[in-house]
Amino acid sequence: MPRLSGKTCLVTGAARGIGEAISRMFVAEGANVILTDIDVAAGRETARALDMPFFQLDVSSEADWQAIAREVLELDVLVNNAGITGFEGEMRAHDPEKAALSDWRAVHAVNLDGVFLGCRYAIGAMRVKQVGSIINISSRSGMVGIPAAAAYASSKAAVRNHTKTVALYCAEQGWNIRCNSIQPAAIMTPIWEPMFGDGPDRKERIAALVADTPMKRFGQPEEIAALAVLLASDEATYMTGAELTIDGGLLAGSAASAKR
Ligand SMILES: NC(=O)c1ccc[n+]([C@@H]2O[C@H](COP(=O)([O-])OP(=O)(O)OC[C@H]3O[C@@H](n4cnc5c(N)ncnc54)[C@H](O)[C@@H]3O)[C@@H](O)[C@H]2O)c1
Repeated sequence: MPRLSGKTCLVTGAARGIGEAISRMFVAEGANVILTDIDVAAGRETARALDMPFFQLDVSSEADWQAIAREVLELDVLVNNAGITGFEGEMRAHDPEKAALSDWRAVHAVNLDGVFLGCRYAIGAMRVKQVGSIINISSRSGMVGIPAAAAYASSKAAVRNHTKTVALYCAEQGWNIRCNSIQPAAIMTPIWEPMFGDGPDRKERIAALVADTPMKRFGQPEEIAALAVLLASDEATYMTGAELTIDGGLLAGSAASAKR
């Protein structure tokens, strides 16, 4: 029996990377998936391959969420996956000393406002049945300080906290609308491209990025999707307000531990 049979799910940032993997695995588990993204060409292509509908949705736009709310009146699962590092256009300083306020705000607009708007919409669309699962993709960067990516780290930390607020609010109303967050680290997707670069040191940069990861490899988008399936399914009906780290062991200990 497929684990998401009959469920209507909406995934943001579904055109590629983790959102694409989640959409594909949800479909394989019997769900009807509405794929959304700002990248219309790639989003349509991914949705066509899965034979599922696509909607253009900029998660930071209240008007876009209102348009979705008019189209999709009832929902069982929302995955707030869309996110940016702020390095997409060009590699600019994002440390606490030199980061521009406009860059700080742009990252929070997508990563935090987007999750707030998504949760607000989902509560409305799940209210009818009083059952549902909201899954917020936060990050390991929301659990520790990241000197070179201050806005990203701050926005992802806030997502963890808002997840708990939504979980408690829904429980207070007596609804079975659950809200949980996933904290991935080092998952091989295009989000890393600006940080890898295409110079001669690309290989070394990739190696350096996983050097502190106990499992010594990047994770795959499907490994995040498997966790999203669990949270979306009726196997997780007692889980709400939880934080699930999936990071190859990165947060399990300190890189400064003594060598044997
Ligand atoms: N890859 C990792 O190592 C990693 C680690 C921790 C957390 N995450 C988080 O996982 C999520 C997915 O990341 P990914 O690695 O698949 O990234 P990605 O860059 O490969 O994909 C992100 C998708 O989001 C879309 N998007 C960007 N801005 C948007 C907006 N305003 N509205 C709607 N869609 C928008 C992009 O078009 C793209 O399709 C993000 O929230 C990211 O922060 C990723």
